[in-house]
Amino acid sequence: MLISSKVLNGINGIASIPGDKSISHRSIIISSIAKGITEITNILKSEDILRTINAFKLMGIKIEERNNKLIIYGKGLYSLSKPSHKINLGNSGTTARLLIGLLSAQSFNTYLFGDSSLTKRPMDRIIKPLHKMGADIESINNKLPIIIRGKKLKNIDYDLAIPSAQVKSGILLAALFVKEKTQIIEKEITRDHTEIMLQSFDANIEMKKINQSNYIIIQGQKELYPKNISVPCDLSSAAFFIVAALINNNSNVEMKNINLNPTRIGFLTAIKRMGGQFIIKNQKTINGEVIGDIQVKSSKLKGCELDKKMAKLMIDEFPILSIAASFASTPSIFKGLEELKVKESNRLELIKYNLENCGIYCKIFENDLFIDPTKKFIAKSNIIKTNNDHRIAMAFAIMGTKLGINLKILDSEYIKTSFPGFINEINSLGGKLFE
Ligand code: S3P
Repeated sequence: MLISSKVLNGINGIASIPGDKSISHRSIIISSIAKGITEITNILKSEDILRTINAFKLMGIKIEERNNKLIIYGKGLYSLSKPSHKINLGNSGTTARLLIGLLSAQSFNTYLFGDSSLTKRPMDRIIKPLHKMGADIESINNKLPIIIRGKKLKNIDYDLAIPSAQVKSGILLAALFVKEKTQIIEKEITRDHTEIMLQSFDANIEMKKINQSNYIIIQGQKELYPKNISVPCDLSSAAFFIVAALINNNSNVEMKNINLNPTRIGFLTAIKRMGGQFIIKNQKTINGEVIGDIQVKSSKLKGCELDKKMAKLMIDEFPILSIAASFASTPSIFKGLEELKVKESNRLELIKYNLENCGIYCKIFENDLFIDPTKKFIAKSNIIKTNNDHRIAMAFAIMGTKLGINLKILDSEYIKTSFPGFINEINSLGGKLFE
């Protein structure tokens, strides 16, 4: 359990933000099937990432840490070997969806399982397109655990009905083993780190935009060649510090080398609309990824309305954005949040449940979240239920820095899945979190 208490003199200083989780997963997966050695710096060291590393070690890839770098000795597209035992994916949805794609195209069988949260999450979204490619995947109700019988796959033309970067990436990884061209069409934009990294590893991949839709065309059976990777820092993790600085008086926080990929920056657009004061400095593009430094200070926030399109560009940031909205001068409505129901927890329900406990007026209208901080209530309880969800835990830890009652955050050990240093980092800037 984590206890979060009110901060007295603001949140101040330079916050050290860990490497981006999505890019870290991809850097391990793509380097492991490339031909040659890849050196990765600033990779996220968290439980989810360890799951991906362990999976590839189990499949015969030598991966070692040296001088603070992760070194991956890739042996080429067809070099993975049958794992000696079942692969444990822990809590990591990204490892699950991406590996289901990659493993469907191997010449061996695998058994994948996860923890209780991951076992509840839908896998049909990735199993369905892979079945169309001819994959042999066995599961009960399209949930983990699953057995994959590796096969030669065929190409598809696929309309990504559910906007999901994990699904898109799983199909792309499977398509790397198919000679004919696979095409994915996405009407709603999702993060494009896989496409960017595959391109920089010399894959035969093309991305084009026609009438607001993205077309991704990939031709497989071509070796990938390594590029050393410097993982940018994670905006989704920086978001907790950004909101901590915005809502607490006398705060000023700087974060360096943050990933500002255009498919990820909905959160910055949202807080700008809410009157959040921040500046971006030293913006540059490295290996196709935009990065920059963010400086943010205490701000008088107002509410805002966000439409469904925005939801895709900031899907992981709604728990912490809801905390910012709770301290605004006017109400907010965030629309089209159905995907929040199938994340590490039902985030939509948990945001409402915990905000109400904290005395914040909040309603869910189907898939829309309405927060009205002008209606004041007495807090019902200081217990925060997280259902093992790292982002709910961190968001309400930030709520506690402002609220004035000590919040008791349950199952906070799950913060380790994405940000093991979170508590120390907040405390070093003036936070009062106790385990
Ligand atoms: C991720 C994609 C997102 C996001 C998740 C990481 C990725 O999920 O919520 O935390 O690395 O591809 P979707 O698959 O729903 O886009």
